[in-house]
Amino acid sequence: MVDLGLSPPQDWRMNERFHGSFTQQEPIPEEGIEAALAVLRSGRLHRYNLAPDEAGEVALLEQEFAARVGAKYCLAVASGGYAMACGLRAIGVRPGDRVLTNAFTLAPVPGAIASVGAVPVFVGVTEGLVIDLDDLAAKADQAEVLMLSHMRGHICDMDRLMAICDAANVRVIEDCAHTMGAAWRGLPSGRHGVLGCYSCQTYKHVNSGEGGLLITDDEEVAARAVMLSGSYMLYGRHLAAPGSEVFERVKYDTPNVSGRMDHLRAAILRPQLRALDRQIARWNARYSVVEEGLRDTPGLHVVARREGEAFVGSSIQFLLLDWGEAAIAEALRRCADRGVELKWFGGAEPVAFTSRYDSWRYAPSEAMPATDRVLKGIVDMRLPLTFSLEDCALIARIIRAEVSAVHQSCNRAP
Ligand SMILES: Cc1ncc(COP(=O)(O)O)c(C=O)c1O
Repeated sequence: MVDLGLSPPQDWRMNERFHGSFTQQEPIPEEGIEAALAVLRSGRLHRYNLAPDEAGEVALLEQEFAARVGAKYCLAVASGGYAMACGLRAIGVRPGDRVLTNAFTLAPVPGAIASVGAVPVFVGVTEGLVIDLDDLAAKADQAEVLMLSHMRGHICDMDRLMAICDAANVRVIEDCAHTMGAAWRGLPSGRHGVLGCYSCQTYKHVNSGEGGLLITDDEEVAARAVMLSGSYMLYGRHLAAPGSEVFERVKYDTPNVSGRMDHLRAAILRPQLRALDRQIARWNARYSVVEEGLRDTPGLHVVARREGEAFVGSSIQFLLLDWGEAAIAEALRRCADRGVELKWFGGAEPVAFTSRYDSWRYAPSEAMPATDRVLKGIVDMRLPLTFSLEDCALIARIIRAEVSAVHQSCNRAP
């Protein structure tokens, strides 16, 4: 039982300080280190450099990930951003096309759209931190593709989203950078649209430094993605790709835009994939402790999770809705002074990993006042598994105390 420390008197707790690092992930499992050493000793790091009868770590990773999510095809690539751009190209997005996407997401998402010469059309965010489905319905006739970002792991009503998109003939690519292992009504995130894209970058749910995965059930899209990623004519060495007859149809009109994964990273990832469900339970235990600790804090909105959403609590967000900028800055400063690193999505300029849709001058957007109000209040925090449950309770106590103190003083002000 974790002591949330909510019972008064709490004055002594004002001296508490957190000393952990919000960017410290767990080590790579020993099994992954051993497998990586074996790859290094073999000298065969390129995915198509295989000994006779060797499947190779990359092809096995693809096969295992496809099986995990129930997809027909999987391709491992260099990054999550590459997976998204490759997916856009593979479904035929061309320069000048418009692509709907979330206003609340991170730079690589509009960046992937821009990288193929397409134009992002931003869709608003709700107080539940998911895409605004009314806004999506209103804009669905403006594009033929939606790059749906399950930003920070918040999954919208996917049944309604797919109904809107199907009715408007909008194909959906899911950006699952924050939802590997999550699901909507039992269907894994990434399995709702034509394509799912995942990131294996250090701060995601599996960590190979950099890396990405792309899944689909569409044989032609899969074959194009494999060709795009730089398979030369070696696609026969894949274990989770369509048959050669599909490649025959696409191989001469699909350019090579190299972005393969290598055996070293795949070797590190395979054991992490096997441990993913265990890790998700650990993340969610930490998330619950922080969520409970923050509940009923004056001025702070805990973000409600939707029924039907099985999420991965690898980060947590809360809202300081309608607070002034100075008050938010003061609350964040006070938390930072006590070792709690919070990120704010409301700043006019992108800082580190934060950004806003209106930061991107290459993708001008109409003003979205309701979305701006939500973005202005979003506070975001990582929950690495190196934090204990007691750490999480302490972090929540610090946020609660500092947010309450600033809120109280603002309310006292004339
Ligand atoms: C929401 C979102 N989508 C996509 C990506 C892209 O992943 P990568 O860093 O592997 O390119 C990220 C990475 O931070 C992300 O946060």
